[in-house]
Amino acid sequence: MRISNTLTQATCLLLSLGLTTEARSVSPVAKGYSRSEKCKPHAPFRPLPPSQARTKTCHVATYGDGRDDSKHILSAIEKCNNGGKVVFDADKFYTIGTALDLTFLKHVDLDIQGYVQFTNDTDYWQANAFKQVYQNATTFFELGGEDVNVYGGGTLDGNGQVWYDLYAEDALILRPVLVGVIGLNGGTIGPLNLRYSPQWYHFVANSTDIVFDGIDISGYSKDSVTAKNTDGWDVYRSSNIVIQNSVINNGDDCVSFKPNTTDIIVQNLHCNGSHGISVGSLGQYEGEVDIVENVLVYNISMFNASDGARIKVWPGVSSELSTDLQGGGGSGIVKNITYDTMYIDNVDYAIEVTQCYGQSNLTLCNEYPSSLTISDVYFNNIHGTTSGKYDPDVGTIVCSSPSVCSNIHATNIDVTNPDGLYADEFVCTNVNTTLLDVNCISS
Ligand SMILES: *[C@@H]1O[C@H](CO)[C@@H](O)[C@H](O)[C@H]1NC(C)=O
Ligand SMILES: *[C@@H]1O[C@H](CO)[C@@H](O)[C@H](O)[C@H]1NC(C)=O
Ligand SMILES: *[C@@H]1O[C@H](CO)[C@@H](O)[C@H](O)[C@H]1NC(C)=O
Ligand SMILES: *[C@@H]1O[C@H](CO)[C@@H](O)[C@H](O)[C@H]1NC(C)=O
Ligand SMILES: *[C@@H]1O[C@H](CO)[C@@H](O)[C@H](O)[C@H]1NC(C)=O
Ligand SMILES: *[C@@H]1O[C@H](CO)[C@@H](O)[C@H](O)[C@H]1NC(C)=O
Ligand SMILES: *[C@@H]1O[C@H](CO)[C@@H](O)[C@H](O)[C@H]1NC(C)=O
Ligand SMILES: *[C@@H]1O[C@H](CO)[C@@H](O)[C@H](O)[C@H]1NC(C)=O
Ligand SMILES: *[C@@H]1O[C@H](CO)[C@@H](O)[C@H](O)[C@H]1NC(C)=O
Ligand SMILES: *[C@@H]1O[C@H](CO)[C@@H](O)[C@H](O)[C@H]1NC(C)=O
Repeated sequence: MRISNTLTQATCLLLSLGLTTEARSVSPVAKGYSRSEKCKPHAPFRPLPPSQARTKTCHVATYGDGRDDSKHILSAIEKCNNGGKVVFDADKFYTIGTALDLTFLKHVDLDIQGYVQFTNDTDYWQANAFKQVYQNATTFFELGGEDVNVYGGGTLDGNGQVWYDLYAEDALILRPVLVGVIGLNGGTIGPLNLRYSPQWYHFVANSTDIVFDGIDISGYSKDSVTAKNTDGWDVYRSSNIVIQNSVINNGDDCVSFKPNTTDIIVQNLHCNGSHGISVGSLGQYEGEVDIVENVLVYNISMFNASDGARIKVWPGVSSELSTDLQGGGGSGIVKNITYDTMYIDNVDYAIEVTQCYGQSNLTLCNEYPSSLTISDVYFNNIHGTTSGKYDPDVGTIVCSSPSVCSNIHATNIDVTNPDGLYADEFVCTNVNTTLLDVNCISS
């Protein structure tokens, strides 16, 4: 497997670090390197711990015929943990049919050059995938520990079709997330291809100091049902994370900042078919305090999406978005969020701020305003064309009361309707419109 052409920038970075597939096959030992230097143009909020040198190599054996290779994987990792590199060989096929607890990793690389597929045994995975509690998420495996790199340009395939079909029959089934990064401190993930996740592609929880670089995400349903909730990244209870140089073809949030996500850089992404780069949803669980603070989203191309830049907050009253997603009544703080440089094409709303997430009855929503505060938000340099779905509106910035939103700015926004028949309007409610350099129609 080779990394895709669209990831040339990531390739250049890796070339300069001597980490391409070619270089690796010459030298079995990956040198230590600086993770922070990979992060461009914006540096992480805090320096990332460097990756230490690896001094041994273990190759993962495979049946190659669909039988479960989990014991091969565990035995190679046990041999090469603490200073080694575990290689999934190019052009080999690996099957995972067992939920793998990989939270014991330390100073180890997973060099995934081959093709790794999870089994389609939905009964097994529903019973055994790791329960992450938040939004009933489960994961095929848990990758955690300290100083872990996963790269190689190979593929992880979630065998999603069987899950898309099952979910269409029963929305309460538990579909595993393809990549569970749970309790990882210090790591580099990518280049990698991720395909056909049953639901989200990444759940990053209880983790710090990680750079995702050169991830290629894609996976559509091959029949008439839709692959739902295929978020690119959901970040939760995590800090100092960089997500960059990646291509995401999916059907839900491209990247989503869930409760207690701080100090995040997202840069140089190409998103297609998504629900935008989203803060939230937040305020879902009554009695909980959700914090999303210090986020910089830079240089995003957003195609065929419902939103570009988005902040979604549940109202103060219990609400239902869908059979498997209800909430409302939580509180929290959204602060210091910057969206800088976004190109949109065929996107319903360039910017959407809502505190009525999941509640279609606006009268009811307004009776129970959210107490979650939103402040110091900067939408800068957003240009392109909407889908026309909400003509003449191209964006909506609506807070539940004037007291919860402050210092929300929109500057250099050049977004137009596709047909040019209408003025390009924004709905602005309970916000200081003098800070919004857009054509607000109500306030
Ligand atoms: C599940 O995978 C097995 C082995 O690859 C295959 O024989 C079977 O048809 C698949 N089942 C479904 C429902 O896709
Ligand atoms: C994260 O850590 C907390 C506190 O130790 C723990 O309760 C929780 O289960 C962990 N995992 C997730 C996904 O929140
Ligand atoms: C899990 O799903 C059930 C059924 O939709 C829902 O009632 C419950 O609130 C969910 N739990 C969480 C933590 O979201
Ligand atoms: C998020 O952080 C706040 C403030 O520290 C804390 O009260 C809350 O319990 C945390 N929530 C989660 C889900 O960890
Ligand atoms: C923006 O990101 C794209 C990849 O989506 C990349 O090709 C381009 O060089 C980046 N531009 C800047 C100014 O970093
Ligand atoms: C982009 O998304 C649309 C659906 O919104 C899909 O039809 C199209 O195939 C996607 N493009 C790529 C390159 O995957
Ligand atoms: C707010 O975020 C910016 C990045 O957009 C960062 O440079 C700045 O330090 C943050 N402010 C605080 C007070 O942390
Ligand atoms: C957007 O979707 C259209 C049709 O669904 C598709 O032709 C186009 O390639 C998509 N854009 C991208 C960048 O994939
Ligand atoms: C919306 O909420 C209001 C206020 O609670 C209520 O009077 C009205 O009947 C609701 N409308 C619908 C369509 O449920
Ligand atoms: C709105 O912002 C302007 C410019 O900063 C400021 O002068 C004004 O006091 C603000 N209005 C309110 C109601 O906060």
